[in-house]
Amino acid sequence: MTLASPPELIIRKREGGKLSDDEIRGWIDAYVRGDIPDYQMAAMAMAIFFQGMTPQETAALTMAMRDSGQVIDLDGIDAIKVDKHSTGGVGDKVSLCLAPIVAACGVPVPMVAGRGLGHTGGTLDKLEAIPGFRCDLSTKAFVKQVETIGCAIFGQTAQIAPADRQLYALRDVTGTIESIPLITGSILSKKLAEGIDALVMDIKVGQGAFMRTTESARELARSIVRTGKVAGKKVSVLLTRMDAPLGRTVGNAIETKEAFEVLHGGGPEDLVECTLALGAEMLRLGGVEKTEAKARARMQAVIADGSAVALMEKVVKAQGGDPRVVAEPDRLVIAPKKVVVKAPKAGYVAGIDAREIGLAGVDLGAGRTRSDQDVDHAVSIVIDAKPGEKVAAGDPLATLFVHDRRKAKAPAQRVAEAFRVTSRRPTIEPLVIETIRR
Ligand code: URA
Repeated sequence: MTLASPPELIIRKREGGKLSDDEIRGWIDAYVRGDIPDYQMAAMAMAIFFQGMTPQETAALTMAMRDSGQVIDLDGIDAIKVDKHSTGGVGDKVSLCLAPIVAACGVPVPMVAGRGLGHTGGTLDKLEAIPGFRCDLSTKAFVKQVETIGCAIFGQTAQIAPADRQLYALRDVTGTIESIPLITGSILSKKLAEGIDALVMDIKVGQGAFMRTTESARELARSIVRTGKVAGKKVSVLLTRMDAPLGRTVGNAIETKEAFEVLHGGGPEDLVECTLALGAEMLRLGGVEKTEAKARARMQAVIADGSAVALMEKVVKAQGGDPRVVAEPDRLVIAPKKVVVKAPKAGYVAGIDAREIGLAGVDLGAGRTRSDQDVDHAVSIVIDAKPGEKVAAGDPLATLFVHDRRKAKAPAQRVAEAFRVTSRRPTIEPLVIETIRR
């Protein structure tokens, strides 16, 4: 049988035809080898963007991308290994408290985390606010750490799903990010390569999220659960709201600090709820608890008895960081100068545009607009008044922590405009919209 040429395959997909498993695998392998140039990959991505893929094609794409690099073998660890992945939001520091809590409950957590890009933050940037902390673990060190401590958090290496690294960068500049099959392949290829048995996805929904509507988030959720199943993994998805920032902080060191407060039994209500809801699903998939109530009780117990803190101290120490920051989060350095954004009138905070707050954080230097930029770990935004809270005119809505007040003018204006204050008390919807398991 003669193989179809790249232009023939692009045309077939462009016309809504189907690609076979072998054609998809051959395509991805050739792309990673450099035999398919970026312009043909971009054309194919655009064809997929418009025509979509069948579940079988999506699964073939995901497996081919997973197999484009190393697949970490954690089979030597006799337990169900479960990771969590979020599609990204503003103030989303959940991984930093969730991973040690779940690991302290006896479920190993091998976590490959990402960096912030655009208006959303990244777990690795937040962890690197800890003096000495290293995210560039070798695969060997990663496996050993999961085995001995029960948790390791590292960045995607060049060996993990290289097809995704190449393709994601290309999609980013060719208008092909928002495609359900391409997102499914991108997320799951990395996750399946890290040796997990099960995955809990947090798909954020709302104006601060990648998925703006519940319907599109549901569609992505179903695609991810279905594809995970083909790969032999259990996958659950929680759809959670991302209209306002999660918790009360946006920035790197400050979010790490807030996540550590959760480990000590504190932290803002929405952050704690997001952590426990995702954690309960991880404990269920990890086979250590059968019901949500029991899973929540178990997590509360490891918080109360200090074992979640102790576990995070071990993770930080093993990855070269100063473990004292876990028990004493005030050791993390926050920028010294304050700029307070005040309420223009009395009323209730009806909404905070998470995207605008995230972009204000980027303006301050907490995030990046290009993947090769450095971030400033110390600059921060603290949300003083969350949605539903009552304010008097002149009360603080948010406080920016900066190095130089003169440079904070535009971001402070942006933060001010992100707040909506109304005379009526708003209804606050539950954080978790729904859970999708099948
Ligand atoms: N996150 C990813 O890792 N990949 C996507 O395509 C979108 C979000």
